[in-house]
Amino acid sequence: MEQKLIFTNAVGNALDNLVDALDAASVTIITDTNTLRLVLPLLQADSRTAASARIITIKSDDINKNLDGLKHVWTGLAEGDVTRKSLIINLGGGVVTDLGGFAAATFKRGIPYINIPTTLLGAVDASVGGKTAINFNGLKNQLGTFTEALASVISTVYLNTLPRQEILSGYAEMLKHGLLDDTDTFASLLKYNPIYPDFESESLLPLLRKSVSVKSRIVEADPLEKGPRKALNLGHTAGHAIEAFAMKHGKPIPHGYAVAHGLVIELVLSHIRLGFPAETLRQLAAYILENYGAFDIRCDDYDELISYMRADKKNSTPDEINFTLLHAIGKPQTDCTAAPGQIGAAIDIYRDLTGL
Ligand code: GLY
Repeated sequence: MEQKLIFTNAVGNALDNLVDALDAASVTIITDTNTLRLVLPLLQADSRTAASARIITIKSDDINKNLDGLKHVWTGLAEGDVTRKSLIINLGGGVVTDLGGFAAATFKRGIPYINIPTTLLGAVDASVGGKTAINFNGLKNQLGTFTEALASVISTVYLNTLPRQEILSGYAEMLKHGLLDDTDTFASLLKYNPIYPDFESESLLPLLRKSVSVKSRIVEADPLEKGPRKALNLGHTAGHAIEAFAMKHGKPIPHGYAVAHGLVIELVLSHIRLGFPAETLRQLAAYILENYGAFDIRCDDYDELISYMRADKKNSTPDEINFTLLHAIGKPQTDCTAAPGQIGAAIDIYRDLTGL
């Protein structure tokens, strides 16, 4: 079933209308400790559904997107006599929508659920497209399902509760969607500055709507990621390697920052392999450098970064490192492979572009 996407800053109203139409036997909100404090009271003030729902709270942060967190939610659902006629609402960022979606998909073989993302990353990526997951055995998103939410209510009203880094982290995925769409979308994203002079979240809503529509169009064509959906992995082979490297060296960076640097490296690779235009690459690199800074990569780090790329779950064999690259904006090529020498050359150019 196709996920309904509702873009509105009147979230409480939209939620009440959705729930009235569903006539659910009971409503349970799954949220995390931060969202419970910062956002739930705002939603409860605006929505009778939220004001009367049962609440299950998990711990914030990706490290808690695990079996213990899942068990806690399953236990709460069992104790609340949740049935297939009930409704679950995931209120939070990607941790809540991934774990809550997985709990909803598996409890009694599936309870309908709605996502209300409260972070930009959640709004633009995790809450749309039906991927649910928890981390397992030290690896991210190892257990999960493809189970679409009935609806995602996407707003910018809660974004002012977030620190600057969180906004930029989500914005990197928007830049990715712009690169997968067309030159106009990409140009409007480069023109918008998500922070300066004053971050005013309302003005982001039209850009967010456009960005989510890019993802949703790709997911609709390939919901189970057999082919074209892999385009959404742009920036993520290098990005995941940078994220893992930063974590390993005790200096973790937000997912979207790693994706931002990964996008530059993979556009360099796109230029080398597929003739992606140099001018667009330079524009993106300048924007990333200004807003996200540079990720410090030394010559001695190349082998370790490339070994993380080899371990990526997108590869079919450890010898082939898989990337989604671009011929041009809006023209992705999935299942490209690159040799370590070419990846090293791309990292060299990334370092030149960012003045390292
Ligand atoms: N986050 C990429 C996807 O949903 O396919």
